[in-house]
Amino acid sequence: MAEQCRATPRVSDEGAGRRRRGRRRPVSCAGACLLRQSAHALRLEASRVTRPIQALRGDAVTFRADPFDRPSAECLVYQEDALVIIEDGRITSFGGHAETRHLLPEGLEPVHYTDCLISAGFVDAHVHYPQMQVIGSYGAELLDWLTTYTFVEEQKFADPAHAAMVAGRFLRELLRAGTTTAMVYCTVHPQSVDAFFAESSLWNTRMIAGKVLMDRNAPAALLDTAQRGYDESLDLIDRWHGKGRQHYAVTPRFAPTSTEAQLDAAGALLTTRDDLFLQTHLCENLKEIEWVRELFPARSSYLDVYAHSGLVGRRSVFGHAVHMHEGDFCICHQAGAALAHCPTSNLFLGSGLFPLFEAVDPTRPVRVGLGTDVGGGTSLSQLQTLNEAYKVAALKGRKLDAIQAFYLATLGGARALYLDDRIGRIAAGFDADLCVLDLKATPLIDFRRQVCRDITDLLFVLMTLGDDRAVRATWVAGECVYDRERPEPFRYPAASA
Ligand code: GUN
Ligand code: ZN
Repeated sequence: MAEQCRATPRVSDEGAGRRRRGRRRPVSCAGACLLRQSAHALRLEASRVTRPIQALRGDAVTFRADPFDRPSAECLVYQEDALVIIEDGRITSFGGHAETRHLLPEGLEPVHYTDCLISAGFVDAHVHYPQMQVIGSYGAELLDWLTTYTFVEEQKFADPAHAAMVAGRFLRELLRAGTTTAMVYCTVHPQSVDAFFAESSLWNTRMIAGKVLMDRNAPAALLDTAQRGYDESLDLIDRWHGKGRQHYAVTPRFAPTSTEAQLDAAGALLTTRDDLFLQTHLCENLKEIEWVRELFPARSSYLDVYAHSGLVGRRSVFGHAVHMHEGDFCICHQAGAALAHCPTSNLFLGSGLFPLFEAVDPTRPVRVGLGTDVGGGTSLSQLQTLNEAYKVAALKGRKLDAIQAFYLATLGGARALYLDDRIGRIAAGFDADLCVLDLKATPLIDFRRQVCRDITDLLFVLMTLGDDRAVRATWVAGECVYDRERPEPFRYPAASA
């Protein structure tokens, strides 16, 4: 049981909520090329208004409730031989095929996935797209890893062509892994954000991303200033936030690379719209935490540094949060802020073991999503990430059951991002973002599953043995954008062909 949350959180007077501030500057004009990109995205959006009805048939799993809050078995919906009907990118019906097939328009044959399991698309709550080529860099803990590998790699994103190339690879790798929504760090360069959102718009994926803010303690080529970071972020917000399925996240990298002035500017950015996101890193590594203490001696904790600038609230997602105190969890709970659990990264960088069951304690639950944190993380697959999450929980003396695990990767992630009214479930009214898992993906999965007693066993085998090979197909807003069995597996949605 958690200690009682104290009535007064350990934050300074401004409190855990966001401070309200005025907008500092009018919007500046974007480059012609970028405007063309966003006009193209808007045209695509307009052309997607009506699309033919689509349907999928096969066994399916989804959630009706939070398995960290009530018994797991009550939360899972397992529908054998299900039918999912989709219209204009949204699910209009989900039920047994026998019971609901009369709803299909005459002559429409559903895509029938046998020996598969249909799930909501996975949600990755923390990932760095520019770090794809940093994955598996040897031998360092967080701070050395950043300076030795990551800051070197991120400088390449000054080149828009490089950014566009990597964004293209990244989106395909996400779709190959069954991930349909992610909260993504770009680099300090605005062009890295334009490249990402332009590519995401082509796939029509629901994505959250932002320009990294850094005005100290990084190579000069990666630094902005508080004012420049503010202006560039505001431009990007105007260009991308709410355009089709794209959302903007104000993205101060972490406290050591921002001055207080820059963190305040990030807080000011959040007040310019109601529904902006905030992403940053928190309490990942012990040396990092000590450094934050030295840099911000007036603050009572690492989280207080962010709270002081108005960064702790709904739609704030803090990556890692490995070394948290009870008071930190209380503040996150009260503020509605979320944490991204990144087990492959925490193990790879030797950062520590995330206390998942303490975070989600039902007496003051904190929203938790699952993050791959590539390139500190070692895989873009949420199945692989769950495999490590299970082991991290085990080392903390707890067992993460398969229902809790798949919840984290789908509806739990959507809740962490306050998108659980649109994504994360298979249900009428939800976006038709789906992934189809192949129960015969590898000889070992196929052999092992033959002795599974029930759906929980099967899900556990998938998260233990599965990875991108276990993803047969991925649907985005009602279009099959990835199908491993097609000669060309990836296909942009029809409207953007
Ligand atoms: N802390 C600040 N930046 C980063 C990053 O890029 N990756 C991880 N894992 N932690 C960080
Ligand atoms: Zn990260």
